[in-house]
Amino acid sequence: MTTQQIERKWWHNAVVYQIYPRSFMDANNDGIGDLKGIISKLDYLHQLGINVIWLSPVFKSPMDDNGYDISDYQDIAAEFGTLEEMDELIAAAKQRNIHIIMDLVVNHSSDEHPWFIEARKSTDNPYRDYYVWRKPLADGSAPSDFHSYFGGSGWEFDELTGEYYFHQFSKKQPDLNWENPKVQQEVHDMMNWWLDRGIGGFRMDVIDLIGKVVDQKIMANGPHLHTLLQEMNKATFGRRDVLTVGETWSVTPEIAKLYSDPARNELSMVFQFEHITITFDPVEGKWKPRPFSLVEFKNVISKWQTELSDQGWNSLFWNNHDLPRAVSKYGDPGKYRIQSAKMLATALHFLKGTPYIYQGEEIGMTNVRFESIEDYQDIESINLYHERIAAGVSHQEMMQGIYENGRDNARTPMQWNGSANGGFSQSSPWLKVNPNYGEINVELALEDKDSIFYHYQQLIALRKQREVMVYGDYQPLFEQHPQVFAYQRTLGDEQLVVICNFSGQVVELSLTDEICGLYGECLISNYRPVSELGRTLNLQPYESFVIDVSSSL
Ligand code: GLC
Ligand code: CA
Repeated sequence: MTTQQIERKWWHNAVVYQIYPRSFMDANNDGIGDLKGIISKLDYLHQLGINVIWLSPVFKSPMDDNGYDISDYQDIAAEFGTLEEMDELIAAAKQRNIHIIMDLVVNHSSDEHPWFIEARKSTDNPYRDYYVWRKPLADGSAPSDFHSYFGGSGWEFDELTGEYYFHQFSKKQPDLNWENPKVQQEVHDMMNWWLDRGIGGFRMDVIDLIGKVVDQKIMANGPHLHTLLQEMNKATFGRRDVLTVGETWSVTPEIAKLYSDPARNELSMVFQFEHITITFDPVEGKWKPRPFSLVEFKNVISKWQTELSDQGWNSLFWNNHDLPRAVSKYGDPGKYRIQSAKMLATALHFLKGTPYIYQGEEIGMTNVRFESIEDYQDIESINLYHERIAAGVSHQEMMQGIYENGRDNARTPMQWNGSANGGFSQSSPWLKVNPNYGEINVELALEDKDSIFYHYQQLIALRKQREVMVYGDYQPLFEQHPQVFAYQRTLGDEQLVVICNFSGQVVELSLTDEICGLYGECLISNYRPVSELGRTLNLQPYESFVIDVSSSL
């Protein structure tokens, strides 16, 4: 395999940091994170070294789904701040060479958006076709049995006009009708308005769903999806040098190339979730987790690394605001928290693609376990809890699912220091802080030169310095080994060997001729640096290191 001379883009060696504004930093002490809070932490992010922030939604919203239900795409939610403060954030970030990418949530709006308020007034309202309305079946029931991802029917009956509207998520998130050219035009105008304000691109929420053909029950990957994206590209960001990343749970490598092959003028890259969904039960989904299999995981990663090597681009992530904390899911949140968090960071950041760090990951924040469902705020966990309990699932089983995969794991407030509420706010936060903030917080991480924070800082800096980390070809090693994830990256006569022990046990690894005898500079490690590959390696629990073996080839 050869590395094609793909056109260099600034976002190829970028590292993105995702902020969930509600939980990042509360500047005015009302218990909710805000824009001023983010501005106050830009120096911290600059110190970490990231150069892009993906901001989860900050737009005006009734907050049924914490802002993924937007009632005005061109204004900021009062609890987060003002448009002026948003401009201030964009400018202050720019001064630190940080681009801000906004969350584009246009599969649906809020039911409190003026478009929807108009649409529901009458069947001939000019906004009616902005949404998906259908008549009841002869017996008055919903047009189909489509089940919403947040529980219950995906159809909501609206008394006034006697029709149902369609919503894939909560009933306060009616689906927009992308078959209507006016919807496309409104969204394009809105995107240009934001681009003109100086943002660096968009993360596109469930973008694989906008091409839906509701009557045929086609939701993801509808027949016009890619045409819609090409039109969007042409009408908006295509003329600008920005980063666009689609959230696409349904993607295969073939489809990912459709989105991210530069020749097709769609998106920079997409998030694929196959490494996540292999840990879910095939029928019951995330609420019934399957044990993690490293071999299966490696197959998935290798497939994506190889398939997108010359055409398209990968995004790399362990977690986000919808997923559990990386160290809890794939590492050891207890005895080996620090070693395993560093190992996971190394394993991911040396892959080919653009890495995404979710707030708190850089200090090894962990999942949370609240005893009562009352302490949870996430609409998905709460709705599904009640739905499944009513269907006979036990409280214990459902709570176990929430502990492992519930979205509030990622949403507990950022842990800045050991003071009350982890320094996030002086009043009680909208979601309880994880009780471990005394041991796990930014202040402690910054004081300790061996902390997870500085490991991330080093990885981000390496990506800026080493082309091989960005553009090198990927070759897996020890593919069938149940505990070790290892690979090589090669660019011209440069070569890196990455070795990661994914287990809490000491592993004795016999090296094949392929890499035995190689040596060179150890670029990063989480125990003592290793600079030579002998016949056997004795790997400590969660040990990982990377050697630049170029000079020994
Ligand atoms: C995406 C978001 C998630 C949200 C959903 C509906 O999956 O990441 O947080 O609930 O879309 O907008
Ligand atoms: Ca606040």
